[in-house]
Amino acid sequence: MKEYNITVSSGQSNIFCGEGAFASRAPLIPRERVFIVTDSNVSALYRALIDSTFGGAPAYVLPAGEGSKNRTQLFKILSAMFDAGATRSTTLVALGGGVVGDIAGLAASLYMRGVPVVQIPTTLLAQVDSSVGGKTAIDFRGIKNIVGAFCQPREVIVDPLFLKTLPAREVRCGLGEIIKYGALNGDILRKLSANMKNLTSQDFLSDITFDCIAHKAAVVCADERDLGGSRKTLNLGHTTGHAFELYYGRKSHGEYVLIGMYYELFIACKLGVCSPEYAAALVKLIKSVIRVPSYADASTAARGAKHDKKNSDTANISLILPQSPGVCRELTLGADEYCGYIRECSRAVAAKEWL
Ligand code: NAD
Ligand code: GLY
Repeated sequence: MKEYNITVSSGQSNIFCGEGAFASRAPLIPRERVFIVTDSNVSALYRALIDSTFGGAPAYVLPAGEGSKNRTQLFKILSAMFDAGATRSTTLVALGGGVVGDIAGLAASLYMRGVPVVQIPTTLLAQVDSSVGGKTAIDFRGIKNIVGAFCQPREVIVDPLFLKTLPAREVRCGLGEIIKYGALNGDILRKLSANMKNLTSQDFLSDITFDCIAHKAAVVCADERDLGGSRKTLNLGHTTGHAFELYYGRKSHGEYVLIGMYYELFIACKLGVCSPEYAAALVKLIKSVIRVPSYADASTAARGAKHDKKNSDTANISLILPQSPGVCRELTLGADEYCGYIRECSRAVAAKEWL
């Protein structure tokens, strides 16, 4: 088991990662002061483990899926906490994927102006990314993560035991964020490229999870509140990915991150930000995980990017573009110009004219 620490002005977040992390850390959370938030799939799969670890603790079970990241479910969690007599000394345990982590983290930041939260991520995506760093949110008015708060978890318990039940598609979603880290970190990219045929093996995933968490922890220590420093780099691929996710909604977050990365790589190449060779290396990784679609109405879908939190106004779109291994660059395009590139990329995909 490895340990990482994030020390920021609001306190310290300790991340315990590796086999045995759950068995050694979860029983230390006093069960008589725990409130659990989980989802319907995780609750069904891990009922016995939840009962033996937190037996008797009150819980709220969200319907599984992104559709639960809304204000109705947020207030249902808060009501359930109130009904269970939760106090400021209650620890909220978020046991699930990124959806559970995001909404439960937000509930923890709001209940009595803040109760401690322990994140126990059960998807690959949540283990390598969303459970770490304290960003919490719900979707609102059709926009991803537009209402939220920073709430550093007191502890994050990352245990590969949960990945044994994860469907192959959810492993691909996690690889979406992992490949994003490849674009941000040359060492991670080298490992990904060297293991292209092996990306879903348990050993590889356990090892790369350490690297992604170490990368994210360092970024969050430097720019916890995403104040124009390095944290916005973690949004690579997400500007277009989020816009497509909310417009089309057929795939999941990690898949749209990969599709967003592909479309934004096209823009990076067109603008000369990255070399065709570097774009080809990243596209090879992306295509080893997902088929990139073209969309007849891609530029309409891309309009949703005007609400992205990186933008300083709705007429301009801020993008984090890959430049070279481990280096990316922020670039702002007019909304029309950006949507035009997205349309062009989609046509190139349909005509098989680009990578
Ligand atoms: P998710 O939470 O919806 O989980 C995906 C599916 O896997 C769900 O059906 C869930 O029930 C199921 N599942 C969870 N654990 C399982 C297990 N161990 N075995 C079998 N099935 C299991 O989605 P996700 O991909 O984990 O997270 C996506 C969310 O994370 C998005 O809302 C995204 O915006 C958010 N996110 C947040 C951050 C952040 O920094 N806060 C970063 C990245 C993504
Ligand atoms: N997933 C983006 C961030 O944590 O900043």
